Amino acid sequence: MNDVFPVHGMDAVVFAVGNAKQAAHYYSTAFGMRLAAYRGPETGSPDEVAYVLTSGAARFELRGSVRPGTWLARHVADHGDGVIDLALDVPDVEAAYRHALEQGARGLAEPHVMEDEHGKIVVAAIAAYGETRHTLIDRSNYNGPYLPGYVAAEPIVAAPDVRNGRFFQAVDHCVGNVEQMDEWVEFYERVMGFTKMAEFIGDDIATEYSALMSKVVADGTRKVKFPLNEPAVGKKKSQIEEYLEFYGGPGVQHIALATNDILATVDHMRKAGVEFLDTPDSYYDDPALRARIGEVRVPVEELKSRRILVDRDEDGYLLQIFTKPVVDRPTVFFELIERHGSLGFGKGNFKALFEAIEREQARRGTL
Ligand SMILES: [Fe+2]
Repeated sequence: MNDVFPVHGMDAVVFAVGNAKQAAHYYSTAFGMRLAAYRGPETGSPDEVAYVLTSGAARFELRGSVRPGTWLARHVADHGDGVIDLALDVPDVEAAYRHALEQGARGLAEPHVMEDEHGKIVVAAIAAYGETRHTLIDRSNYNGPYLPGYVAAEPIVAAPDVRNGRFFQAVDHCVGNVEQMDEWVEFYERVMGFTKMAEFIGDDIATEYSALMSKVVADGTRKVKFPLNEPAVGKKKSQIEEYLEFYGGPGVQHIALATNDILATVDHMRKAGVEFLDTPDSYYDDPALRARIGEVRVPVEELKSRRILVDRDEDGYLLQIFTKPVVDRPTVFFELIERHGSLGFGKGNFKALFEAIEREQARRGTL
């Protein structure tokens, strides 16, 4: 089938934060990321600073306002630290943008060229849920540290002492919390030609355990995967409702990071102070779990001691774990995921996972 909106993959996850200097330190020390590029008042950017960090193919940009009254300062005041842009690497920005607008997307930036001594990039942007945007970028004719206007920067700390010197290698998927899931599923189908993946959480699971409904859309190559959640009427207050309330509307809930050694990564990140959701002993001691997951690469005891979850489907299995929110508000968090064939998102873990989340909500008094 003709791909109406080809994408190469994720280009960057862009965060608006209250203190980008300290956030860059956090993602360096706790997530093992390497500072690669910077812009700020010293480099001709009078209103804001931006730190660009990488870990393998994953790239985060952390933007902070250096003065009051800017769009960025207002965004942080409204939403707290959060994701403002899920930037996509596309082969033809002009065609992608034109297709998106023809299909009803709202344009935020017309295609334009930016250049410096490292070459040129083509960039445009369209609006997604809430105040989130998708920048569309073609950097195939550019070899600078990030974008024109940014200068190369040295890592903040030494590389972590793990295989390949990094805790994770790529962004696996980016999850949005929205009010109307189907509206946004339809948006990605129509505007980007994305298709639904098999996994979804319907009202069967929703009512009892998760209080959310979820569907996943992805591009034709399955490199870009966007699960979308909406609150469901459950027995308890939905965690999605809590997010929408505290974030002040729809936004990115979590970013899943693909790792090839989740055990070592979790050990290092815990040691660096990252908090992960707890999972009850009963999850691991349940004979049904052992029957469900079959053989995985390490004994269940190794997973249990780290609170790593495991799920299996017809294609294989996956190991995953979720951090607690990494910002002040109960909004944005991360997932680590190690895939062994499975293309799923851990549906089988929803019950155990949401019971754990509910314990955290109860501690905050927002259940
Ligand atoms: Fe996830």
